[in-house]
Order: sequence, then C-alpha cells, then structure tokens
Amino acid sequence: AAAEKGGYDTFMEKEIHEQPHAVADTLLGRTNENGDLVLDEMGMSEEELRAIDKMVIVACGTAAYAGMVAKYAIERWARIPVEVELAHEFRYRDPVIDEKTLVVSISQSGETMDTLMAVRHAKELGARTISICNTHGSTIPRESDGVLYTHAGPEIAVASTKAFLAQITASYILGLYLVQVRGGGHDDGVVEVMRELHQVPEKIQTVLDGMDRVKEIARFMADSRAVLFLGRHVGFPVAMEGALKLKELAYIHAEGFAAGELKHGPIALIEPGQPVFIVVPSPDSEHGLHGKVVSNIQEIRARGARTLVIAEEGDEDVVPFADEVIRVPRTPALLAPLLTVVPLQIFALELSTAKGLDVDQPRNLAKSVTVE
Ligand code: G6P
Repeated sequence: AAAEKGGYDTFMEKEIHEQPHAVADTLLGRTNENGDLVLDEMGMSEEELRAIDKMVIVACGTAAYAGMVAKYAIERWARIPVEVELAHEFRYRDPVIDEKTLVVSISQSGETMDTLMAVRHAKELGARTISICNTHGSTIPRESDGVLYTHAGPEIAVASTKAFLAQITASYILGLYLVQVRGGGHDDGVVEVMRELHQVPEKIQTVLDGMDRVKEIARFMADSRAVLFLGRHVGFPVAMEGALKLKELAYIHAEGFAAGELKHGPIALIEPGQPVFIVVPSPDSEHGLHGKVVSNIQEIRARGARTLVIAEEGDEDVVPFADEVIRVPRTPALLAPLLTVVPLQIFALELSTAKGLDVDQPRNLAKSVTVE
C-alpha cells in the first residue's frame, strides 16, 4: 500500500502532488503543428457547433465548481451564454433546452447517477451532449455525443483534487475550441491562452513547494469550529471548493461566499478571531475587482476577523490587512483557479491529518455516488 501511495502517507497527498502532471497531461496532444486545437472525440461537426446558441453545464460536488469556473472562461472567450446547474436540480425542473443547446456534463468517475440522469434528460429534449470525464469507457461519456477526456490518472481519495484541476483545464480547452470554430468576442487569442496554460504546471509546482507555512497554520487551527472563504469572479467557485474540502475532510463547518455578497448578509458572521480565507483576484483584473476585494479584507479585519489571504506574487496592497499572506505565481486572471485552490486543498488535508482523521475515506462519503 505504501508503494501505491508513491511514498506519500495518503492517496490524497499523492494526488495533490500529481496536479502539475494532471494539468500537463490534459493539455497534451490537443494542438496540431499549426497551433490549431484538434479535439478528436467531440462527436459534433464544426457546423453543428456553430449552430449552438446556449450551453448548460451539469455536474455535482467538486465537478460543479469546475463548471462554474468554466462559465466565466467560456462566456468571456466564446460569447456563448453558459448556465451551470447541479445535475440533480436540472433534471427535475423542466429546463428550457432544445437542439441548439449544448449540455456539457463534468464527472470524474463518469458514473454519478445524478449527472447521468441529467444527460439522459437533455438527450430526450434533443440537446447535444458532451462529457468532460476522467474515466475511459464509463457510462456518461458512452451515452454522450462527444467526450473530452481529462488525463488526471486514477483518483483514489474520495475528495477530488487532481480531477478538479484537470476538469478546469479541459473546460478551458473546450472554450478555446469554440472560439476557434465560431470566433470569439475578445482578443485573448487561442494561441496566447494555450501558451499561458502550458506554463501553469510549473507554477502549480511552485505553489506546492511553498506550502510549509500553510501546513503550520492548518495545525494551529485544528480546533476551529467554523472557517469562511471569500472569493470573487473565478475566485468565488474556488472559495466554495475550499469550503467543501474542509467540510469533507475535516468535518468543520465551512462556507464559501462571493466577496461582493459579504455586505448583504455574511458579514454578520464576523466576530473577533473568526478565520476567513480570501482568494484575491489578480491586481491586473478588469473592473477594479482587486481593489474591491482588498476593501472587503479591510472591512472584515476591522471587525476582528483573522484574515488568511491568497494573493499573487507582488501584490503588496493586501499586506496591511492580512494576518497571513499565501502567495501564488502571476497568471492571467481566468487561469488563476488552477493555482489558488492548491493552498486550500493542502490546508484541508493538513488540518484533517492534525485531527487524526482518515483523509482518504471521510465518513459518510463515497467516491462515486451511483444512486439518485
Ligand atoms: C461524490 C464525491 C465528490 C465528487 C462528486 C462528483 O460526491 O464524493 O468528491 O465531486 O461525487 O463525482 P464525479 O465522479 O461525478 O465527478
């Protein structure tokens, strides 16, 4: 068993450290010598893809947060409206979809019953279906028109880590492919984004190599009763994923919020000593989002929150309001989730371990939920 874990204590630790490869392997072989994306298993002609007028992403758990990241990127790049919905909600609310809708399911296992039922329902209504999946030959890709496989390798730990990064990567590829086929709305060119994406694995490694302080913080926080996570734009799904990891692995009450929503309710939760992680957008973000989130940090700090800030290398604006600053390398704003989620995974892993819990097999959870 020790050998299977490649020298790590748990599968989850091993899988977190495999993330640079999960992203690199998912990017591998997607372009031809001209730099054009070639997706062999899309199951749809370019003409059919041009006829699509709406996308709906269906998924559960961590995969649904990957879907939320995908929405920001695909809408921005390809200018197609994208909805993201939990698969079990989608199936039973009579969704408005037709032949011009592309329904994209995201599933590590390809066997999640809720997601499968959503795909079947979409097909009944005449929608086109594509599966983003990590398991070759599993049910969901078999029943979909097309598939874009993530190449994260087998994920054993119940809580998803490397599959999440691979799902986000695959979503970016899908978004860029749609730009290539249909034209896009913005000048973040396909070649340029792909070039940036290829640099991400090394940056994930840099994050992983600098996690000593995060582990220390986690050990100090083993008695925490509640931890909050704030994020904005693509940092919002990252905040929710960070909270989910902490619930799953350490059985601590955790919530992720959109930072802009803070003043509409959650700020009432802030009392002296309340730990809050804040995923800060890049200082280069559009619309002054960075400054808005820095103000949020200032507001909660003034009310006594303990601020654990995840910010880009060189972002000095956060320093005066941060109890801790956790650094990630610079990268384009839309790609940042591939870096910012990593410290949150490590935090949950380490805190769970400090509590003496079974990291790979959390209570009450299954790796693949094959019942509705
Ligand atoms: C289960 C797992 C989660 C996972 C979700 C979706 O609930 O415990 O970690 O995110 O299913 O799984 P899938 O295989 O469809 O990605």
